[in-house]
Amino acid sequence: MEKLGLNEIRESFLSFFESKGHLRLESFPLVPKNDSSLLLVNAGMQPLKPYFTGIKTPPNVRITDCQKCIRTGDIENVGKTSRHGTFFEMLGNFSFGDYFKKEIIPWSWEYVTEVLNIPKENLYITIYSEDDEAFNEWSKTDIDPSRIFRLGKEENFWEIGQGPCGPSSELHYDRFAELGQIRTENDFIKAGNEDRVIEFWNLVFTQFNKDEKGNYNKLKNPNIDTGMGLERISAIMQGTDSIFEIDTIKSILEEVSKVSGVKLGESNLQDISLKIITDHVRSTTFMISDGVLPSNEGRGYVLRRLIRRAARHGRLLGIKNIFLHDLCATVIKNSCKAYPELKEKSSYIKKIIKIEEERFLETLDSGMDKLKVYIQELESNDNKILSGDKAFKLYDTYGFPYELTEEILQDAGIKIDLERFNIEMQNQRQRARDARGQSNYMGNGENALNLIPKSIETKFDGYDRVELKSKVKFLINGEEIITQLSKDSKGIIVTEVTPFYAEMGGQIGDKGTIFNDNFKAEVYDCKKNAAGKIVHFVKILKGTLLADELVTLKVDKNRRSAISKNHTATHMLQEALKQILGEHVHQSGSYVNEDKLRFDFTHFSALTQEEIIKVQQIVNDNIMKVSNVETNVMTIEKAKKSGAIALFDEKYKNDVRVVSVGDYSKELCGGTHVNNSGEIGLFKILSETGVAAGVRRIEAITGNKCIKYVEDKDNLLKDISNTLKCSEKDIINKLQTQLDELKDKEKEIILLKRKLASSSVDEMLDNIKEVNGVKVICGTVKDMDSDALRDLADKLRDKLGDGVVVLGSNINKKVQFVAMASKSATAKGIHCGKIIKEVAKIAGGGGGGRPDMAEAGGKLPEKLDKAIDNVCSIIERLVK
Ligand code: ALA
Repeated sequence: MEKLGLNEIRESFLSFFESKGHLRLESFPLVPKNDSSLLLVNAGMQPLKPYFTGIKTPPNVRITDCQKCIRTGDIENVGKTSRHGTFFEMLGNFSFGDYFKKEIIPWSWEYVTEVLNIPKENLYITIYSEDDEAFNEWSKTDIDPSRIFRLGKEENFWEIGQGPCGPSSELHYDRFAELGQIRTENDFIKAGNEDRVIEFWNLVFTQFNKDEKGNYNKLKNPNIDTGMGLERISAIMQGTDSIFEIDTIKSILEEVSKVSGVKLGESNLQDISLKIITDHVRSTTFMISDGVLPSNEGRGYVLRRLIRRAARHGRLLGIKNIFLHDLCATVIKNSCKAYPELKEKSSYIKKIIKIEEERFLETLDSGMDKLKVYIQELESNDNKILSGDKAFKLYDTYGFPYELTEEILQDAGIKIDLERFNIEMQNQRQRARDARGQSNYMGNGENALNLIPKSIETKFDGYDRVELKSKVKFLINGEEIITQLSKDSKGIIVTEVTPFYAEMGGQIGDKGTIFNDNFKAEVYDCKKNAAGKIVHFVKILKGTLLADELVTLKVDKNRRSAISKNHTATHMLQEALKQILGEHVHQSGSYVNEDKLRFDFTHFSALTQEEIIKVQQIVNDNIMKVSNVETNVMTIEKAKKSGAIALFDEKYKNDVRVVSVGDYSKELCGGTHVNNSGEIGLFKILSETGVAAGVRRIEAITGNKCIKYVEDKDNLLKDISNTLKCSEKDIINKLQTQLDELKDKEKEIILLKRKLASSSVDEMLDNIKEVNGVKVICGTVKDMDSDALRDLADKLRDKLGDGVVVLGSNINKKVQFVAMASKSATAKGIHCGKIIKEVAKIAGGGGGGRPDMAEAGGKLPEKLDKAIDNVCSIIERLVK
């Protein structure tokens, strides 16, 4: 058989199935759409599930594709075996109620023996023990029937969790056919365990849908789902033992070798590191190209773990600097033909990996030191469990993913107290929640919110008006349904229609009043409950309200207007960011209230001052174009075709609302907006910060807040010029002059202090003592830092000739000591380090040093004199 490259095999498979009437699709992104149960796509059939179950109609009844997949379940085996990897590509062909066993079995045989030309004596087939139909179909090909084995459900029935599943038939390759044909099921299973035979293609006869109760429900039409591991078949076709030796992956591994200077095969442990890095750089490059960003949750956490694990193994290979971001170029080069998104986003991918690796390396070494100390402590106490608090500290302070700590500890046979770790995690989440100040309505009133009957649907009619009359449908007081709300209580009002906007899509809920002749309540918030019902949170100001009464609902108009200005400006900001920074800018979060707007977006580095100014200018220019803001309801397809911006991973119903500002911004949005951009007045960016790797945040203000901002700045300037007693335009000059003067004064002070000190020098020289034959000068000076003190001690020692000088000084509410000795004094047993240690201890400090010179600090200025008074007796003890 001919040696084929990985990219060639992919192409040959897809065109083979095209020739059998299949529609070739691009790989789906790694992030599953509309499936919250799964973090990352892990099989070719996964994105096609709705076609299997019949919920959606496929574009063709026969489909073929090559799907990017991530599986991290076996991550600890990566690098230790020849076949494990976290990223792989799955070739597949699918039939949705069209062909079945009769077709797929001969086709797969044809592809393997006539296209790939794999010798028949290297091939074995397994089928589900009860599947006579599959046996018959295989017997019709020219395979020797003694090469077909019937195995049990464990081996030949395919399912993952719930969903489409069924019996399967697998194709296996014998790497050592020369050892003779395998004759029995038992020998076959043994050969599999010993890596003699390798399964490379799984044909699933999908005929059931497994429900949540575990029942296998027969599907109306049986389907076909096959999966061939592209890396595995490549290894077979290239006659290698390991996926790390196939053409594309090998070229990545060689890059890792180049960077680290470590070759494959030199040491077992280093081989593992080389392979881990090679594998993880593949998976992370692909994940980022599909929009995953490192974070502490969900798929972002998987990405973070992979990058950090690879970075640590780089360290184990002796790589000092960040290196992963350079390796992704090889991944991109190898795969960009099949996955053009890699090339499009190459600089973005590189930057994200770089930022994450840099972040981790900042703390990796200190974290490793800490972990080593923990391990030593545990070992000296014969303890095999690391406390959850410590594992959490490594996670929280040093950025060690839990699994990384676990893996490092494994070598020392130590486990982590997971329960405690989880408690610490929960506490941290709680702290974050508290810090955000999010709390439920009236404590546990959430339950009450869910009491609202299904039949009640409040209609929102507040886009074009802020006041209307409606009937009360439902009242809740604290935790129960009630028939009347009275003064001084808090409660919830649900009406038939409302002009109040309920918090949604990052826009805060409206405030206002609800009233009639007998009753008045302040609406302090408006939200939707879990079932999407609009609820008004109210405080009763006057009277009593009965269910079924007619009320007027009146939104605080000025507040709503301020919110709408901020919301429209947020759309305009997004457009301006795309214009200045590029099309990679996507919204990753937003929050709009009456005071300001906050917009989080994907971008890899801090904005320069110049970029910020440009973005701000574009938004303001567009405000001044006084463009009309229009909203139109249309189908999602039409909206997307018109170029409207949609959220990355948002699920949209068929009809969507599109908000456009003039001809420069078009976005899917349910929020409230101004009628004309001119209403916004002015837009000012207040800050630009980072919130996560690759995510930036802008906070800005509009309208009256901008006017207030200008007034405040103006007043501040006036205050400054009054204080400095100069005109506004002279402020900088005046400040500069004053700063210069201050510097001169500081210099003068230093000179004066030196003068003062030299007088105490004379005094000290007059007071030389002698202790056991050693001449000693000791004394205190004021306000000298360690540099000045050292200079002074040096001078004194020169003047003294033979002997020892010990000085102390009070400075900034602390104490500083220095001791210096001549050679002959140290020969007599003087040790400045020991002297200073004892002296400093008296003043609440510590320190030490060499025999001829030592320094220390202390925290108790009031003990300075006492410390220096003790110098002679300390020396007396040292020099016997
Ligand atoms: N869905 C089958 C698998 O993942 C083909 O192995």
